[in-house]
Amino acid sequence: MSERSGTLADDPFGGRRPTSHERMTGLPWDASYRDGPAPWDIGRPQPAIVRLASAGGFAGAVLDAGCGTGENALHVAALGLSVLGVDVAETALAIAREKAGHRGIEVAFAAADVFQLGRLGRMFETVLDCGLFHTFDGDERTGYVASLASVTEHGGTLYVLCFSDAGPDTGPHPIRREELRAAFNPGKGWNVAALEPDRIQTRFHDDGAPAWFATIKRI
Ligand SMILES: C[S@@+](CC[C@H](N)C(=O)[O-])C[C@H]1O[C@@H](n2cnc3c(N)ncnc32)[C@H](O)[C@@H]1O
Repeated sequence: MSERSGTLADDPFGGRRPTSHERMTGLPWDASYRDGPAPWDIGRPQPAIVRLASAGGFAGAVLDAGCGTGENALHVAALGLSVLGVDVAETALAIAREKAGHRGIEVAFAAADVFQLGRLGRMFETVLDCGLFHTFDGDERTGYVASLASVTEHGGTLYVLCFSDAGPDTGPHPIRREELRAAFNPGKGWNVAALEPDRIQTRFHDDGAPAWFATIKRI
């Protein structure tokens, strides 16, 4: 038996509880990034995020929760904002850092669990969730929403771009409008300011999949 067996080094989840998505697939998120681009990894920022950035939607310190290989974070950082992208997938973070280096963009990428954002010891004026919320089941959402609240400044803004149930051709994990409103309610410190239909581009949809684009204010 190797000396390392049974230690954290053998744990593909790094000591954290696997998420519902990981339990369903039987694989850590990191595995999605090891053999070429993941289905959501389109090699450019999501058009909805580009539009938002052009409209001045990002301000202050920005957190990209579940940043993947960093295209959205890199786009926002290239505008001159201070951006931290966090993810549990080390392979994705390595790719993101490499892109930042090649493009000469100043941005930070760190390994962190979005259920423990308080451990970052920082607050953010703008937080982005692009494609992460919809991967969590109902139980996980409660902890995730509280974790987001712990690092979002009062009056700050959270943007969520997630798959919607407004078909046809819905993506995996379609979310109902009411689910977003239930997760981010005033009792939990949030106010949904806008909830609009949008699209999420993937590598497998010609014109993207139906999405919700939510603007959520931290009370
Ligand atoms: C569907 S991907 C979206 C990635 C990126 N935002 C994009 O638009 O390309 C979801 C990302 O969230 C990350 N993730 C999942 N659970 C996480 C957790 N508990 N903490 C941090 N990141 C997580 C995954 O590793 C993955 O990179």
